Amino acid sequence: MTEVNYGNSPSADELRSMSPEEAMIAGAEVDGVHIVHRRERFPVRGSKAEKRAERAVAACFAIAGLAGVGFIVAFIAVPFHWHLPGTPQDFKYFTPAVGGTLALMLLFFGVGLVLWAKWLMPEEEVVQDRHDDPSKVEDQMMTEATLAVGLEDTGIRRRSVLLLSVLGAGGALATVPLVYLVGSLLKRPGTTLFHTMFQRNTKLFPQSKGMVPIVYSDWRQVSPDDLLPGGLATVFPGVRQPSEGYDGVHNASSPTLLIRLRPGQVVHPRKGQADFGWPKQNPQYIAFSKICTHAGCPASLYEQQTGRLLCPCHQSQFDVLSDAKPVFGPATRSLPKLPLEVLTGKDGRLYFYARSDYHEPIGPGFWERP
Ligand code: FES
Repeated sequence: MTEVNYGNSPSADELRSMSPEEAMIAGAEVDGVHIVHRRERFPVRGSKAEKRAERAVAACFAIAGLAGVGFIVAFIAVPFHWHLPGTPQDFKYFTPAVGGTLALMLLFFGVGLVLWAKWLMPEEEVVQDRHDDPSKVEDQMMTEATLAVGLEDTGIRRRSVLLLSVLGAGGALATVPLVYLVGSLLKRPGTTLFHTMFQRNTKLFPQSKGMVPIVYSDWRQVSPDDLLPGGLATVFPGVRQPSEGYDGVHNASSPTLLIRLRPGQVVHPRKGQADFGWPKQNPQYIAFSKICTHAGCPASLYEQQTGRLLCPCHQSQFDVLSDAKPVFGPATRSLPKLPLEVLTGKDGRLYFYARSDYHEPIGPGFWERP
């Protein structure tokens, strides 16, 4: 450590005659920061030990950079859903893949910085007094010198490998917001948001011409007799494909509200949806997606006397008797309506089926409002 001990603030001329390190130490003293111990980690520059430490730090930045590339690849290439063939496992790897690579990038970038400071920069121990005076020109010069020495201490000018690796990792880090901003404009969800498991499936349900049976969460089929007037049930598509890794009861897009109207209640249907209820003439049963069109909460607080359906998240209200048109709150789109059919089962009872999928996307609407 260079011995410099200035009781008072050095003049500008004195500072000009000092090396940056001396000026930095003098500045620290004037500021009441006493450097009680300072020594190079590697007194002999370019030693094997120093090179080893440098390589380890560079490796951290290189891993961070690779994780950044992995992040971009994951964003572009990983599908939203992924099924492990031959098992009932259905993974949604997109978020873990993107989050995992981002976490790795941040982790190794941070570890690289810490190791750089711990292994390669000079070892220092300082004691600092409090001081509140405004900065003088001399102070500013000494601060500049401190920053210059700090930069020199990083060794960035002579450690080209480290410089390249940290630039690579930093560049990868900088692409993160860019990937999300630009990538989400390019990577489209396709038609996945326009279908639910209620779409006809002749392979699974040939006996009902592909119409999907409507079930409760315990897979019992829903019959019109189950509901009292004014009653409501949450129902699902009866699609059960464990070997393919999906089923209607656990699919997020599936929850549907089946409502039995009270005597005297009449639905004023939207255009093209007059026969979606059951019976087709003067329907007594109607079904709407349970996913709120505002932000996707389950809307299921039903007031049967007024036919109002309330979403508890932000208090949107839907008028069931006007085909679930939003009448209060932030939702702007009607809840999609499910076309119903009723067929006779093997036991002679009547059971509900979905005549087709919803005719419009369920849930929060990023698309044009109808
Ligand atoms: S999610 Fe339903 S009102 Fe906001």
